[in-house]
Amino acid sequence: MSNSHSRKVLVIGRTGQVAQALAHAGAGRIVNVGRPDLDLRDAVSLFRAIERHAPDIVINAGGFTKVDQAEAEPDAALALNVDGPRALAVACARQDIPLVHLSTDCVFDGMLARPYRPEDPPAPLSAYGRSKLAGEWAVADAAAQHIIVRVSWVFSHLAGNFVRTMLTLAQSRETVTVVSDQIGCPTHAPALANALLAIADTACTIGFSGWGTYHLAGSGEIDRASFARHIFELSRQHGGPAASVKGVLTADFSTPARRPLNARLDMTRTMDMFGVTLPEWQAGMADAVPTLVRELEGG
Ligand SMILES: NC(=O)c1ccc[n+]([C@@H]2O[C@H](COP(=O)([O-])OP(=O)(O)OC[C@H]3O[C@@H](n4cnc5c(N)ncnc54)[C@H](OP(=O)(O)O)[C@@H]3O)[C@@H](O)[C@H]2O)c1
Repeated sequence: MSNSHSRKVLVIGRTGQVAQALAHAGAGRIVNVGRPDLDLRDAVSLFRAIERHAPDIVINAGGFTKVDQAEAEPDAALALNVDGPRALAVACARQDIPLVHLSTDCVFDGMLARPYRPEDPPAPLSAYGRSKLAGEWAVADAAAQHIIVRVSWVFSHLAGNFVRTMLTLAQSRETVTVVSDQIGCPTHAPALANALLAIADTACTIGFSGWGTYHLAGSGEIDRASFARHIFELSRQHGGPAASVKGVLTADFSTPARRPLNARLDMTRTMDMFGVTLPEWQAGMADAVPTLVRELEGG
């Protein structure tokens, strides 16, 4: 294996938010592979990518991520979130390459009154959550050298995410309705990417034995409606779109998929094993919102 500064990381996914953040964070040592060259539904394309690029470690940032759509398309979600990761894990194991696989807070039902620890019993509420949980099991079964990293509420100026959705809605609406009883730890994608690379580097060190499941989330917590108000306040300060936020209870706001009311992830195990923490989410917002405001205004 090469030294920590030159470790080659193969990232599954090219256009996604986390995939792009990884490309920026690890410029020079990251190879992003996505469609049409690689497809999680095509096991042969996974084997070929690993053979061709011969990475030190693989990070799977690809998947079926449309939480509501998964209710109507559970088989498509299973193909991308279970069968693909299983085939990827088999391919990695054959070459003795560790696999970092991204998962989600949606494996939990959100009923606990404290942030979720990796060892808390999963109980997904949605087809998406069930597919991601089955994906975790498939990866763990197929590859001894696996690190499953559950993330949640990821935002940035990249790709689609809650911050972009709010600002886009505010371009055409005076009021947006947002749930006020879902609590999470917003996570800035660039900080997440740096942390994932630090974890990947540690996992590549000789003798590493901390395989298993970890949580990565920004510091601090907030409910969705207050988060939206924070977005609009910052946007207003930068001359961008802003709307007033009408908070509603999840029970009164119908969506195809149920989401956990408590999406907070406890970082203790990650800190203990990898020495990784993430900054307060407000720091990422100060970066993401002005960039998105400029982009939305065509700047
Ligand atoms: N964003 C969040 O708040 C959040 C929360 C919890 C968990 N996660 C997890 O974090 C991971 C990354 O999420 P994200 O937010 O970056 O997702 P995203 O922005 O929706 O991007 C999805 C990624 O999946 C890839 N993909 C889709 N279909 C594919 C296929 N058939 N074959 C190969 N790749 C395919 C896309 O790759 P190409 O288009 O480049 O082919 C893209 O890079 C996922 O595992 C997700 O479950 C995200």
